[in-house]
Amino acid sequence: MCGIVGYVGPQPALEVVVDGLARLEYRGYDSAGVAVLDGGTLQTEKRAGKLANLRRALEASPPAADGIGIGHTRWATHGAPNDVNAHPHVDGERRVAVIHNGIIENFAALRVELEERGCKFTSETDTEVAAHLLSTELKDRGDGDLAAAMRAVCRRLEGAFTLVAMYAGDPDLIVAARRNSPLVVGRGDGENFLASDVAAFIAHTRDAVELGQDQVVELRAGDVRVTDYDGAPAPVREYHVDWDASAAEKGGYEYFMLKEIVEQPRALADTLLGRVAADGTLTLDEMRLDGAELREIHKIVIIACGTSYHAGMIAKYAIEHWCRIPCEVEVASEFRYRDPILDRQTLVIAISQSGESMDTLMAVRYAREQRARVLAICNVNGSTIPRESDAVLYTHAGPEVGVAATKTFLTQLAACYLVGLYLAQVRGHKYGDEINAVIGQLAHMPEQVEKVLGTVDPVRALARSLAGADTVLFLGRHVGFPVAMEGALKLKELAYMHAEAFAAGELKHGPIALIEDGLPVVVVVPSREGRGVLHDKIVSNIQEIRARGARTVVIAEEGDEAVRPFADELVEIPAVPTLLQPIVSTVPLQVFACELALAKGNDVDQPRNLAKSVTVE
Ligand code: AGP
Repeated sequence: MCGIVGYVGPQPALEVVVDGLARLEYRGYDSAGVAVLDGGTLQTEKRAGKLANLRRALEASPPAADGIGIGHTRWATHGAPNDVNAHPHVDGERRVAVIHNGIIENFAALRVELEERGCKFTSETDTEVAAHLLSTELKDRGDGDLAAAMRAVCRRLEGAFTLVAMYAGDPDLIVAARRNSPLVVGRGDGENFLASDVAAFIAHTRDAVELGQDQVVELRAGDVRVTDYDGAPAPVREYHVDWDASAAEKGGYEYFMLKEIVEQPRALADTLLGRVAADGTLTLDEMRLDGAELREIHKIVIIACGTSYHAGMIAKYAIEHWCRIPCEVEVASEFRYRDPILDRQTLVIAISQSGESMDTLMAVRYAREQRARVLAICNVNGSTIPRESDAVLYTHAGPEVGVAATKTFLTQLAACYLVGLYLAQVRGHKYGDEINAVIGQLAHMPEQVEKVLGTVDPVRALARSLAGADTVLFLGRHVGFPVAMEGALKLKELAYMHAEAFAAGELKHGPIALIEDGLPVVVVVPSREGRGVLHDKIVSNIQEIRARGARTVVIAEEGDEAVRPFADELVEIPAVPTLLQPIVSTVPLQVFACELALAKGNDVDQPRNLAKSVTVE
């Protein structure tokens, strides 16, 4: 949700900033803008639409000077995505330029106050308030101290924000501040960077500094200074990014999503790597929750959004089955508003690929206020949600750039299974050999996914044939239900089609009325082993919809002859244990949605109206 880049150093700032924006465009892409400051000259350029529009404008009329620079890709919250509302925003004298991620909740009152002081607003954004506030603060102070002015402004702002500013009175300095919104500094040799995500500067440096809550950073070519909002030196965490620029590039694929789907076996294997100690026990080093604490847990609540929520739904089946602990799953945006019952013996598991989703972050904070212990499952090292949790289990999917989650979903599943098995081990609900047997099955999942990827060509053809459909329904039972939900979500976000998932048993309670001649219905069939009764029931459900004219697309284990007579299209997946089946059954649905969206001419990396990390509520 909005990408932010800043650069101070000897390289041409505009080039560094625009390249950084290109790597962050997945965060928001309804407009983009830059500001460069050379000596006392501040120049800005901004354009509605994708970064390509800004690039064209910069080529047509390059700024006369370079120097230091900031840049922004926007996901609009206040004001339409047009040229005027695009960032950066400047004050009346064009001495201060500001970019912003987040929402300034008290902007209306501040705007009235500033207008009374004579400030003229040109945009509908909340961000412009920050530019005028900084400018008036600098005038009131009279000492040209941009960092002090930023601290004073931040103390007045309510909401969530990363703010980055430059000031013509101090042309070697960029100042940034954060509250509830991401900001990371990249330390170079005689140059420094800042961004909402390390991807923006990974081509220049892998040494990063993670900023804490309510901190201000002053960035000069040879110096990085971090303080709190009162000006006291603030502690920061320095770390080395363990992937390089090539991991965040397309590597020959037309879209990141295509690459990320193919990367899933590797991502899964990396997430499972090194989890078993020499004595055969499962070890989750990063967990930071000791055995005694985990043995006290009497309830688990999983909170997450979107695809991560679907991973949580699947985790519930595994955790309750293996650990016999009651487990609830809830969308994070609803969680804190229903007064949930939490205590010290509740383990809250927050699943978030980005570690930044504001809904999940707010739910984490609420849970911790209620004294629950919080474990984060996250893919982004150093992001806010793991930092604010009691414990973390990182997935090792590598950077995911496509807005639709693919490899991070599969690795979230792997992480959830590991947590379930670890709890079962610590709490003595399963014998070591039982746990090892499941770990052995998990270890084979990367090759099973590889196998699925080798057989999905017919799924692509099927997807292309359905590009004209208005609606696709998805059905599943047990862990197949959240898989069906994930299939429907992928189709909605990528192909902009009406897609809806139902628990197959619920169909007869209403949704079956939707079935009409030729309506495509994708059915995720559970394994025959272990949950035979479910399998038989879903075979009946398939017959029911087919009898009413549905075109059935059946995803079933290879060799499942019982479904064959009722499948208009049969997609075979390897036979794996029931609880692990989502790892393989999701893959054809990802391919299906991606191919159908491509057939409709959609950009699958940057679907309309979306952003990769949703840092507003
Ligand atoms: C997935 O394809 C979506 N882009 C979206 O639902 C996403 O999973 C959701 O916004 C949660 O994000 P998070 O995992 O980063 O918290």
